[in-house]
Amino acid sequence: MAKYHESAVLVLSICLAVSFLSFPGADASFGLDLTVEELGLAVNFSVPCDLPTGIAIPDKGGLLTPNLLAVGYQRYMYNGTSWQFSGQHAYLYNKTLDKVGRLYGGRNRRVTFELYAGQSALATTAKATVHAKPVKNVYQTFSIPLQLLNVTGTSEISNYAAADYIQRFGTQNGLPPANLKAKKATFFNSGFSAFYAFYLPLELSPQLATRVPRCGDERFYGVQFGTIPGL
Ligand SMILES: *[C@@H]1O[C@H](CO)[C@@H](O)[C@H](O)[C@H]1NC(C)=O
Ligand SMILES: *[C@@H]1O[C@H](CO)[C@@H](O)[C@H](O)[C@H]1NC(C)=O
Ligand SMILES: *[C@@H]1O[C@H](CO)[C@@H](O)[C@H](O)[C@H]1NC(C)=O
Ligand SMILES: *[C@@H]1O[C@H](CO)[C@@H](O)[C@H](O)[C@H]1NC(C)=O
Repeated sequence: MAKYHESAVLVLSICLAVSFLSFPGADASFGLDLTVEELGLAVNFSVPCDLPTGIAIPDKGGLLTPNLLAVGYQRYMYNGTSWQFSGQHAYLYNKTLDKVGRLYGGRNRRVTFELYAGQSALATTAKATVHAKPVKNVYQTFSIPLQLLNVTGTSEISNYAAADYIQRFGTQNGLPPANLKAKKATFFNSGFSAFYAFYLPLELSPQLATRVPRCGDERFYGVQFGTIPGL
């Protein structure tokens, strides 16, 4: 399994390199709309299992809905001395790499998940929105932290929108440039990917209660694309 995980890392690194090339730091637009083909996301990889207890779901965590894969970027602004987080945007993909929603957030690090309408697999008929705020971080050397997020509000009732906790794990990249100085107020978009696991309150489905994300056997499948634009 370690082998598959490695190749996933490789593929995702390639895909993130592509988004760097296509969207240099100064790009001011949040309207990033890459298809899976454009991202070069050629994958068949398993969801990682190595989850630290630092982001464990508190006791009341219950049923887990299928993991989603996020691919997008974190945005940073140079304030004259250091790079400050200023927002994020990513698209959310299901296991067959269909785009099923997006996430976005600003400087306060709160995150809004938007699940598109009519996703039978996500049990959404209308568009569903989930607001969440990070409550725990486990910092990583080469990528954005693993995170436990607490859901603060939802719009439509759907499978995902009934979640009370969300975990971000299996993160790749997304850090600000380490040794790069820039003009004040310069923006930098740093590509990242991550898995998100959504947990439902225990009372919604006590018989299916579980407190860890599906991993290992849970695989994300993509078509094998021959060419990666920009490389
Ligand atoms: C994905 O990889 C696993 C492990 O090698 C393999 O068993 C499975 O058949 C593959 N699935 C697809 C759709 O390629
Ligand atoms: C930039 O941000 C850092 C970290 O928050 C802070 O220590 C520093 O004073 C800020 N610099 C300016 C010029 O605002
Ligand atoms: C992913 O989403 C697409 C579009 O809604 C759907 O057709 C497909 O069945 C979903 N895949 C899985 C594994 O749920
Ligand atoms: C999540 O939010 C709920 C409701 O505000 C609160 O009771 C709970 O303690 C929070 N959990 C964590 C881990 O912060």
